[in-house]
Amino acid sequence: MKQRTCVLIKPDGIEKKVIGQILTRFEDQGFQLLGMKMVPVNQEKLENFYSEHKGKTFYDHFLNFMLSGPIVATVWEGEDIILRSRQIIGATNSQEAEIGSLRNLYGTDNRKNLVHGSDSSISAEREIKIMFKESELCLNNSLDLNEPRQTKVP
Ligand code: CDP
Ligand code: MG
Repeated sequence: MKQRTCVLIKPDGIEKKVIGQILTRFEDQGFQLLGMKMVPVNQEKLENFYSEHKGKTFYDHFLNFMLSGPIVATVWEGEDIILRSRQIIGATNSQEAEIGSLRNLYGTDNRKNLVHGSDSSISAEREIKIMFKESELCLNNSLDLNEPRQTKVP
């Protein structure tokens, strides 16, 4: 089933200079990028985005971490992308994340874990609306984005 997901590269991903590595993993799956922007964090948006966690013991520390630097917000579309992207990302605690997952490779712990991925299509639609205006998404592209890569790797 074709689905959309909202993936955020958290401040630690930008600090570690692995934006390219993260995007490559999604492109390698043939997922289609519908929107992307690097933005200074906006506390109100973040509180809305993560409202399900409000009141949890880790919430304040987590929000401070998310507010510590810019983030890259992206929207992707693909077959079963919710489940497949969460497999690419790995378990919440980077120390327990599956070998080869992004959090295993570049995450630190259960807070600094590099990437956010939507946990359902309903969450994805909600999160995309918080992060993007309709006009910032490229939904009606005439290019055949399922073509394989054209570049020659040196
Ligand atoms: O991101 P994911 O869906 O895997 O985990 P979550 O349970 O929805 O938690 C959201 C985010 O809160 C995590 O990705 C962590 O960055 C953070 N968190 C934390 O700081 N401390 C915890 N004990 C659990 C989560
Ligand atoms: Mg979550």
